[in-house]
Amino acid sequence: MVDIVLLGAPGAGKGTQAQILQKRFGYRQISTGDLLRRHRADGTALGKDAEGYMQRGELVPDDLIIKMVEGELGGGQAVLFDGFPRTVAQAEALDAFLDASGRGKPLAVYFNIARALLEDRLLGRWTNPRNGRVYNEKYDPPKTLGIDDEDGGPLVQRDDDKPGTIAKRLDVFEAQTMPLVQYYAHAGRLDEIDAAAPVDAVAHQLLHALDLEHAHGS
Ligand code: AP5
Repeated sequence: MVDIVLLGAPGAGKGTQAQILQKRFGYRQISTGDLLRRHRADGTALGKDAEGYMQRGELVPDDLIIKMVEGELGGGQAVLFDGFPRTVAQAEALDAFLDASGRGKPLAVYFNIARALLEDRLLGRWTNPRNGRVYNEKYDPPKTLGIDDEDGGPLVQRDDDKPGTIAKRLDVFEAQTMPLVQYYAHAGRLDEIDAAAPVDAVAHQLLHALDLEHAHGS
């Protein structure tokens, strides 16, 4: 299996689908958002540097992100990059790093969805901070609001899932991350899926795009 970049706006469903693929096919998920939130919770120097950017809905500087991701890479498992790369500089650094380590360049899948649908998804999101499992009050509610069905622990709402910060994150996505659609399309390494569909239908499209259906008997 090759490494995969899940590319899409905040709330497009990257984390939701990464969890499904990780469980079914044994990919390793690298979510830069989750890694940064862990650094913040642990009070590391990187967590302190990242905090202000995240609270304002801005991107954390490329050099900090690239160093953090390189520290995570290694081993033979295929990786699902969730929320990384987010700038052309990050994509170039990832290509160079994977090439140099003999893994080859990753494939990207663009989660295409209208901006108007995203605020609703983000305002209703509840997350298990221990493992990244996500629910949605409206579209995929847990049996008891605020409690994870699977481990019975508390779910939290993210401090950047507020209307003003969501709008800023969506603006930042359009300005700084959308150019990656062209970057991967020009390289012949882009697939696109309709991320406005229900979760199961998005998962089906993703398996098709990655050609995992037949290979794994799904
Ligand atoms: P990050 O944590 O990466 O957040 P994001 O990109 O804004 O993405 P989200 O986690 O909000 O969305 P998602 O697509 O994973 O959606 P989800 O599956 O949860 O980044 C946070 C911050 O960290 C950034 O703002 C930045 O400051 C910093 N950062 C991170 N990476 C960085 C980088 N590389 N460079 C620089 N800075 C970086 O789904 C959302 C909701 O919708 C859930 O409630 C879910 O249940 C629901 N849902 C999912 N799919 C569907 C569906 N098909 N139908 C209905 N509901 C659905």
